[in-house]
Amino acid sequence: MSLELTVDKVGKIFAPNARAVDAVSFSVPAGDIAVLLGPSGCGKTTMLRMVAGLETPTEGTITCGPRIFSRADDALFVPPQYRNLAMVFQSYAIWPHMSVAQNVEYPLKRRGLSRSERREKVMQALTLVGLEKLGDRSSSALSGGQMQRVALARSMAYSPDLLLLDEPMSNLDPELRGRLRNDLRHIIKQAGLTALYVTHDQEEAAALADRIGVMSNGRLLQFSPTETLFGRPAHPDVAKFTGASNLMIANVAGRTGEFADVIDQNGFCLRATAIDDLREGEPTRILFRPENVRLAKPTEAATAQAPQGKIVERQYLGGQAVYVVETGGARIEATDLGTTTRWKVGEDVSLSVDPLGAWAYRADT
Ligand SMILES: Nc1ncnc2c1ncn2[C@@H]1O[C@H](COP(=O)(O)OP(=O)(O)OP(=O)(O)O)[C@@H](O)[C@H]1O
Ligand SMILES: [Mg+2]
Repeated sequence: MSLELTVDKVGKIFAPNARAVDAVSFSVPAGDIAVLLGPSGCGKTTMLRMVAGLETPTEGTITCGPRIFSRADDALFVPPQYRNLAMVFQSYAIWPHMSVAQNVEYPLKRRGLSRSERREKVMQALTLVGLEKLGDRSSSALSGGQMQRVALARSMAYSPDLLLLDEPMSNLDPELRGRLRNDLRHIIKQAGLTALYVTHDQEEAAALADRIGVMSNGRLLQFSPTETLFGRPAHPDVAKFTGASNLMIANVAGRTGEFADVIDQNGFCLRATAIDDLREGEPTRILFRPENVRLAKPTEAATAQAPQGKIVERQYLGGQAVYVVETGGARIEATDLGTTTRWKVGEDVSLSVDPLGAWAYRADT
């Protein structure tokens, strides 16, 4: 059965001056996949380990469905073996001396299931991860991606209430990761599990998650449905961490509804969505993704909404090209999809930035 997971004002202090997690609150509805995303050392693993019961929170409450897992106030703490959850780590610890099926069967044996029950559950789990034909194969004769699937099958075979995954794909090559993450989402959804997944890879997060939480320095900056997080980041660090590599410091020249028209010190203008409440004349920080910048041939004179610039760098990545455009004194990155490059270094272009894809924050946030 899948259950809702609720984390309420949870904190972890390892030692004085070493606060790894700070007042984190979020809730994952039953059957949803939530991803914790953030740079190295921001507290993702510590948060996950507290949900697992491998670490004791120093503050706050963790609840799974009707059960309280831990409550710092009165030192209530359910040991990990009584939480009925499964965990998959970066090193997935497949036992090499056992066959694929034996690996998956092991936790079922420990739980005292009968032989026929075990057989059925092993087959179900292996089918779920697409390894039903490899049950008899020695585990030492598997590829990285196959081992990853065995680890997943093993963790799901005993029907946990909650699945916790900590960068389970970081040992795999990028091509395999790309394929596996779609399968992984499908597998978790088919099993109907509530899952909490930790990664520092924003694409992996987007492909897997129903909801994403972005952490920084132990704090949770935003926890939202995936498209909200990417489409309307609540905090500049969320925008930056999820791929908005263009930053502009500017002033608000005017407001129209939810939009702010801004101008930087070089006279570069654009229209952005005001995430914070910004007034005319106020300094602002603008962030936008290279994918939200359109380049075109400069047909007419530059206008406020279509400033002109020059291509100064081009990086070809096979399926896309990333250009750096210099305009005024600013350097703006723009991405163009496709296998052919449209622009050469030195060429003049006009730029336009989608106002819904450029976000304005108070300069001091
Ligand atoms: N057992 C511990 N004792 C003391 N400090 C710890 C302990 N475990 C983690 N920390 C510290 O807590 C902070 C958060 O660590 P954590 O492992 O949760 O980060 P993370 O987001 O998972 O990073 P990564 O992406 O590198 O895995 C770090 O500063 C780390 O050094
Ligand atoms: Mg970690």
